[in-house]
Amino acid sequence: MARGNMVALVVAGIFLASALCVSAAGTLTFEEVTSTGDSAFAFDPNSNQEYTPPPTPIVPPPPSPTVPAPTAPTTPASSPGSCPEDFTKNFQNTFKIFTDTDHVIVGPNGDSAEMLLDKRTAAVAGTKNMYYTGRFSAWLKLPCGNSSGTVFAFYLSSNGSKPDHDEIDIEILGNTTDKTYTLQTNIFVNGYGNREMRHDLVWFEPCQDYHEYFIQWNSALTVIGVDDVPLRVFYNKESEDIGQPYFNKGQALMMSYWDGSKWATQGGKYKCDFEKNGPFIADIKDFHKLQGCQVPWERDVAACKNPATPHCWDAQTELTPEQVASMNSHKQYCTYDYCQDYQRFKDTGFPKDCSN
Ligand SMILES: *[C@@H]1O[C@H](CO)[C@@H](O)[C@H](O)[C@H]1NC(C)=O
Ligand SMILES: *[C@@H]1O[C@H](CO)[C@@H](O)[C@H](O)[C@H]1NC(C)=O
Ligand SMILES: *[C@@H]1O[C@H](CO)[C@@H](O)[C@H](O)[C@H]1NC(C)=O
Repeated sequence: MARGNMVALVVAGIFLASALCVSAAGTLTFEEVTSTGDSAFAFDPNSNQEYTPPPTPIVPPPPSPTVPAPTAPTTPASSPGSCPEDFTKNFQNTFKIFTDTDHVIVGPNGDSAEMLLDKRTAAVAGTKNMYYTGRFSAWLKLPCGNSSGTVFAFYLSSNGSKPDHDEIDIEILGNTTDKTYTLQTNIFVNGYGNREMRHDLVWFEPCQDYHEYFIQWNSALTVIGVDDVPLRVFYNKESEDIGQPYFNKGQALMMSYWDGSKWATQGGKYKCDFEKNGPFIADIKDFHKLQGCQVPWERDVAACKNPATPHCWDAQTELTPEQVASMNSHKQYCTYDYCQDYQRFKDTGFPKDCSN
């Protein structure tokens, strides 16, 4: 019977492979993708050591309960497509710098910044407030040349030291040439991650021009992509009662540029070489395009969930046919998909969202 089961599993594996990311997946193992442990929190900005949890969480503290209510509840119900403009006046108003301020150099109008990674330290910045849903994007240009070992992370996270934290990650992994930056994404809900995907960024040149890396998050779905291309989508299936929870906490937007030598490039084979290749400078612009519904604190998201006060990013409940076509045509660049990693989940079963 064991043999019968095995055949069934192999067949299921083939089915998943054909339905999902179709390229060279399978050449990467779970360990190669996740050897830091898990979340984008998994780095120590000040050293090259094995990962240890940051002594203080890098999520900004929630504003005190006396802070005035966020904009959402006061938005007139008659403007269903409203996009609160209060989120980002400019970088200084919105973000706090968690590392040396000379590693995050803000442009003159507060609408651009350079993040610098060198031998001394990483660069880490995050929003002062937390948000529940929004459209978060960075127009980003990564350095040309040999960026092996580097990780640029653009991610949303609730308090990462709570066991039930939520997180939506974009991590851009450096490589030995600028032609092969890799986009790794992951999703944590209630502390459960294990949803890595990787795409090789070869259909454009990440170091030549700015490209928009985005996380679009509403109560129906979360889409992660670059420019007009959605690379993955995570649907809210809470109403289907299949044991697949959806995000339920406020999250801060974080940006960091750090040394991931232990794992980032070809499984840790190529490290950050600050003497030869550094310092590494990532350019970011257009902070004013960030949109989000601010929450009074992480666990108080009621106002942002109120259907009477929808935001412009709430309208979309599924991908358009054009987006589906675009996502499918970029599956050829996918090199790892957790939903195909049978070895990884053979004992636990695949995460519920894999059976979409
Ligand atoms: C995050 O959670 C931890 C553990 O509960 C707590 O000690 C810490 O103060 C929290 N941090 C923030 C910024 O809220
Ligand atoms: C890129 O830099 C790393 C670290 O110094 C080195 O191991 C690798 O050989 C370099 N790759 C190329 C193509 O120069
Ligand atoms: C880096 O480049 C190599 C060779 O082109 C490729 O196999 C690998 O997947 C790339 N990405 C990472 C993150 O190592």
